[in-house]
Amino acid sequence: MASARSLALVVVVASMVTTSQGALPLTTDSNCHCYNTNTTVTDFFSHHKFFDFRALHQYAGVPEPIDSFEANAEAPPSSAFFSNSDLFTNSWAIMNWNNTALLELNDSTLNDATVKMVNSPNNIYIERDQEQPQTTHMTLRTVRHAEFQSSAELESISLGYQFLSVRMHARTKGAAGAVTAMFTYRPPPESDEIGLVQEADLEILTRDPPAYVQYTNQPAWNSTSDIPDATRNTTLPDGRRWTDWAEYRMDWTPGSSTWFVNGHLASRITFQAPRDPAQVMFNTWSDGGSWSGNMTVGGEAYMQIRWIDMVYNSTDPGTERPGGCRNVCSIDETTKIGTPVLLTGAPQACASAKYGQCAGRTWNGCQSCEAGSTCRFQNDFYSQCL
Ligand SMILES: *[C@@H]1O[C@H](CO)[C@@H](O)[C@H](O)[C@H]1NC(C)=O
Ligand SMILES: *[C@@H]1O[C@H](CO)[C@@H](O)[C@H](O)[C@H]1NC(C)=O
Ligand SMILES: *[C@@H]1O[C@H](CO)[C@@H](O)[C@H](O)[C@H]1NC(C)=O
Ligand SMILES: *[C@@H]1O[C@H](CO)[C@@H](O)[C@H](O)[C@H]1NC(C)=O
Ligand SMILES: *[C@@H]1O[C@H](CO)[C@@H](O)[C@H](O)[C@H]1NC(C)=O
Ligand SMILES: *[C@@H]1O[C@H](CO)[C@@H](O)[C@H](O)[C@H]1NC(C)=O
Ligand SMILES: *[C@@H]1O[C@H](CO)[C@@H](O)[C@H](O)[C@H]1NC(C)=O
Repeated sequence: MASARSLALVVVVASMVTTSQGALPLTTDSNCHCYNTNTTVTDFFSHHKFFDFRALHQYAGVPEPIDSFEANAEAPPSSAFFSNSDLFTNSWAIMNWNNTALLELNDSTLNDATVKMVNSPNNIYIERDQEQPQTTHMTLRTVRHAEFQSSAELESISLGYQFLSVRMHARTKGAAGAVTAMFTYRPPPESDEIGLVQEADLEILTRDPPAYVQYTNQPAWNSTSDIPDATRNTTLPDGRRWTDWAEYRMDWTPGSSTWFVNGHLASRITFQAPRDPAQVMFNTWSDGGSWSGNMTVGGEAYMQIRWIDMVYNSTDPGTERPGGCRNVCSIDETTKIGTPVLLTGAPQACASAKYGQCAGRTWNGCQSCEAGSTCRFQNDFYSQCL
């Protein structure tokens, strides 16, 4: 970006003006060169993805838990959505790994699991909301079987996320002894170098009181003790419980991890903030270790997600977006979740029209402003000098 500082200023001015003037124009991702968020004027992101699970009735159905360890690993996707949706399959992989090798290591400084656990495609499914049957969500389930635990994990296919603002509209329900999580993950270089993991976590423990959520920049322990600076245990805003629907947001920016719930700052940790490119993951699990605790046999817990919205930068080859940041968009200021709005730049319909200069910036239709003045949109297609 040519000048992040001046762009940042533009965005602040533009959103102040437009907030008092009414809605910003909705646009499409193809018309956005970058995205800012409403909590920083310095961090811009090049990409946006939105995953909507709210209207997938044709795929809805809750699979019966499978009582065989092997059959959980081998289970097919629970519905055609998880193999048919290109947007989904290009971004997320459904896991089926298990912890038997870790259990055999029997090294509690690496992992103190006491229960065999297997991730299963059978535990990730689309479900009708019981209270609001016109809406569906994706559920990640964990089940305590007699001899083992089955769990659920989605991992991003890309290992190249480097800085992001990821949000999910979600809730957690079910038996004590589970962890539900949204996190970034970069494994340590070697499996025994757990202290070198880079990971920013939002976690809900179903054994915790319903107002408490855990925020962590891993690792949260070393061979001798817990690392208190790495983690926060904080109540939800406005008397909320994690069984309520809420928008959970994690901003991973250079030097810090910041979490919000329903727009309220929940926690910010700069200590050992992740640095290098990472995956994004969602999971629901339990392994009888000291973090999750044990789930009672027959118990189940769920993380239910209505949508995932994320702006991010990527180090993957082919994801460069040359040409700077002419059209700045926002996923925060929108009136339609998942659809960006244009903060500054040319509205879509005029993308090929001649641009006018306004206060040193390009605004379509705004040709004769004095330097220092600002512009606002009149409607979706024209802007006006102020
Ligand atoms: C994201 O990438 C753009 C383009 O390279 C860059 O200007 C911006 O600073 C990056 N954002 C963050 C948070 O690093
Ligand atoms: C469990 O994981 C091990 C690797 O750690 C693998 O060899 C084994 O096949 C897996 N078992 C099942 C049932 O998937
Ligand atoms: C695991 O290690 C502990 C102590 O290090 C030992 O008491 C126990 O027998 C070991 N368990 C297995 C299954 O090897
Ligand atoms: C483990 O973490 C504690 C708390 O941060 C710290 O005091 C101690 O030096 C660390 N020990 C090792 C071996 O790194
Ligand atoms: C978080 O704090 C609450 C209230 O003190 C406590 O009940 C809960 O056990 C704590 N959770 C963790 C994981 O420390
Ligand atoms: C930022 O946008 C979110 C929606 O993404 C909203 O909940 C929150 O209130 C906004 N925060 C500020 C400070 O405007
Ligand atoms: C879970 O149960 C096992 C025995 O079934 C026990 O060894 C372990 O300590 C328990 N874990 C927790 C965190 O209570």
